[in-house]
Amino acid sequence: MRPSTPPTIRLVDYQQPAFWIEKVNLKFALHPTATKVTSEITFHANADRGDGPHDLRLDGRDLKLIHASIDGRDLADDEVLCDAEGLSVPADLVPQEGFTWRCTVEINPEGNTALEGLYMSNGMYCTQCEAQGFRKITYYLDRPDVMARFNVKIEGEAPVLLSNGNKINHGSWQDPWPKPAYLFALVAGELEVVEDQFTTRSGRDVVLQIFVRKGDEDKCDYAMDALKRSMRWDEEHYGREYDLDLFMIVAVDDFNMGAMENKGLNIFNSRLVLATPETATDANYKAIEAVIAHEYFHNWTGNRITCRDWFQLCLKEGLTVFRDQKFSGDMRSHSVQRIEDVLTLRARQFPEDAGPLSHPVRPEEYIEINNFYTATVYEKGAEVIGMLKRLVGDETYRAACDLYFERHDGQACTIEDWIRVFEDVSGQDLTQFKLWYQQNGTPVVSVDEDFSQGTYRLTLRQDADASGHRIDKAAQVIPVMTGFLDTDGSEPLPEQCLILDAAEKTFVFEGLTAKPVVSLLRGFSAPVILDHTMDSDQRMFLFKHDSDTFNKWEAGRGIALDLLCDMARGQLVKGANFADALRTIALDGALDPNFRALMLTLPSEDAIAVHMGHLGAVPDPEAIHRARHDLKKTIAKQLASDLPELFAAMRVRGPYSPDADAAGRRALRLAALGLLSLLDDCAAAQDLYWGADNMTEQFAALSILISAGKGADAIDAFYKQWKDEGLVLDKWFAIQAGTTPPEAALDVVRALGEHGDFNWKNPNRFRSLIGGFATAPASFHRADGRGYEFVADWLIKLDALNPQTTARMCGVFGTWKRYDKKRQTLISTQLRRIQKTPTLSKDTGEIIGKLLA
Ligand code: ARG
Ligand code: ZN
Repeated sequence: MRPSTPPTIRLVDYQQPAFWIEKVNLKFALHPTATKVTSEITFHANADRGDGPHDLRLDGRDLKLIHASIDGRDLADDEVLCDAEGLSVPADLVPQEGFTWRCTVEINPEGNTALEGLYMSNGMYCTQCEAQGFRKITYYLDRPDVMARFNVKIEGEAPVLLSNGNKINHGSWQDPWPKPAYLFALVAGELEVVEDQFTTRSGRDVVLQIFVRKGDEDKCDYAMDALKRSMRWDEEHYGREYDLDLFMIVAVDDFNMGAMENKGLNIFNSRLVLATPETATDANYKAIEAVIAHEYFHNWTGNRITCRDWFQLCLKEGLTVFRDQKFSGDMRSHSVQRIEDVLTLRARQFPEDAGPLSHPVRPEEYIEINNFYTATVYEKGAEVIGMLKRLVGDETYRAACDLYFERHDGQACTIEDWIRVFEDVSGQDLTQFKLWYQQNGTPVVSVDEDFSQGTYRLTLRQDADASGHRIDKAAQVIPVMTGFLDTDGSEPLPEQCLILDAAEKTFVFEGLTAKPVVSLLRGFSAPVILDHTMDSDQRMFLFKHDSDTFNKWEAGRGIALDLLCDMARGQLVKGANFADALRTIALDGALDPNFRALMLTLPSEDAIAVHMGHLGAVPDPEAIHRARHDLKKTIAKQLASDLPELFAAMRVRGPYSPDADAAGRRALRLAALGLLSLLDDCAAAQDLYWGADNMTEQFAALSILISAGKGADAIDAFYKQWKDEGLVLDKWFAIQAGTTPPEAALDVVRALGEHGDFNWKNPNRFRSLIGGFATAPASFHRADGRGYEFVADWLIKLDALNPQTTARMCGVFGTWKRYDKKRQTLISTQLRRIQKTPTLSKDTGEIIGKLLA
């Protein structure tokens, strides 16, 4: 069993391994409960260490060692010292120059409920090795700086036997590219394959295969199309070609995360592959496109160039997220993409960085690395790349990336390596910029303006955030894209990127006839909180006139947030002005429907709570829920005579297509329907529900009906229609958990927890119900604390089987200190109860420990 306090791993302690690995031969004799894995590993000395002699120390967990030998000599039981984390062979038995290690272990895929290592999902074998799952398959140097060539032989009954690289014959695979163990994959089962082809720009023909369960073959078209577009895009935008003759994707139903970039054999959560118009929403299609691209892009940013150690995770994840965001923008709309990316960043990363789980983009210590696949590493990591690109310019960015691929191909690298290519190409010193990787917390940028005699002075300051994380931190480099507007909406000065690289800086602009209205942080040019006090007239002016779409949206959102906060604090406010401006935008045919839909969507309840926090108020989840509903109603009334027409006009005729134009029209149509439902007693939503021919509209209508408390018939019908489609059933659980009115939500989720289809061991199903409930603030944060108790019960239950998914979901408590004392007490009681669980995993233990610290 694990020691009572699991050790903390630190970046400063990094040391190269004593031995490198050249080659690995793996043989799998598959059996559901007793798979035998035989490995033959060629080790050689690490000449850089020079501090031997060394024991052979290998990582291994939950392995039954059957046999081991070194250079053909069998090791006796007392020559191999096994413990909970691996094994050691004393130095005097280990030829220090190099040797061949052979061993056989037995593992139990069916008993592997953690879904890490080799496990079974619906009768099929699959693997998840990132970050440290390979050590649950065999003894190894399970660390990303050890890169080796793998040959794999799989013996089993299944008609499909897959691993990385080139197929030699049935069940036999060779990967020519050296890789760390976390990129190893194996899949075996009764799978169907959908096949296509891609020719790289240098003329290599690549076979593309998507493996799915029987019956799902017709759900792969979009994923396949997205894959081909990704391959082309990486050639055109980064000069990167695919490097094998075969690229495979497998869809798996039981998966802890989204997907995994194993070399040549990506494994996906099936929700990110399978789609038909009847079963998937526009949002699902968009996510499939983004994640297919993300995993494909990892082939260069992650696989060919990997991470030296797990502290460098953002080296591959931040960069790859940045790349997939730009890809999605190119495929759809950059301005909409930017708004959506910022919404995600603010919804997930800002709260993380303002609470007890805050950590730098490159963390410096961890207990369980799986807990660091976070919004900070991924999404803030991507923002850092975006700022770097802005600072050096597009051309230099491309030249630095080219140099990165040339210089580091085949290596396991660090953030220092990444920064250095930018310094070498641009000639800039990026020491200060690097603080973005090292300092946690969200900088707050505040603003002072002064205008006299034609001179405009703009003073920007960067400060600690409200949570105090940034006290005593050094000033970072913050690029602030800035525009200037005259009262007629024209721009007297060109847009410029102001670089705030000190605690305070004043920028002086001469020759203006009047004080400009300043448009700051255009395009959200840095992941900061902009504290710019504007009166509502100024905001309204930018809302109407800003030429930067992001800031136009931002101005509208700022007005909405102010109104919502006042309403949640019980003040009587009139939203008529705002609603009127919204109306103009909603009906403006020159604007992208998708953008108009985003405008019509009010800030989430969580976003309102955050804004109240910035204003120094304690959020009341129920009051926020009511305020949001009331403002929606005000807007609906103002647009009353336009809504039926807008709803009808945005109807997309002809067969369903998931493309951005059609999806944008549907988004606006459904936003209009949401408002209309507050006026017509859900009549139009009922019609749409019963008449819909695609999941986007069916699901949106269902959501509207449930939130209005009128969903009973539709809920039953939806279940009957979709009870055999697991991914659609996930939606059925999630939408009830997330949109049932707060008074009724707990009873509903309790009952659903007893439902015969609530297969809680499946991570997607668990997240749908428990996660859906816990992310509906007014339901989860009900004043009597029973929402907390319900979620804690389930987390304790799941932790015994699946630590990764449990630990991740504990993040729903991450914002607990923003609420009132009574709620804080109720939450901490539940957190302590979780913490006292005798068998608590180190994953969950680390998160709960931080939440309570
Ligand atoms: N590298 C994967 C991705 O971002 C994430 C896999 C992480 N899985 C885990 N169990 N930590 O595409
Ligand atoms: Zn990734």
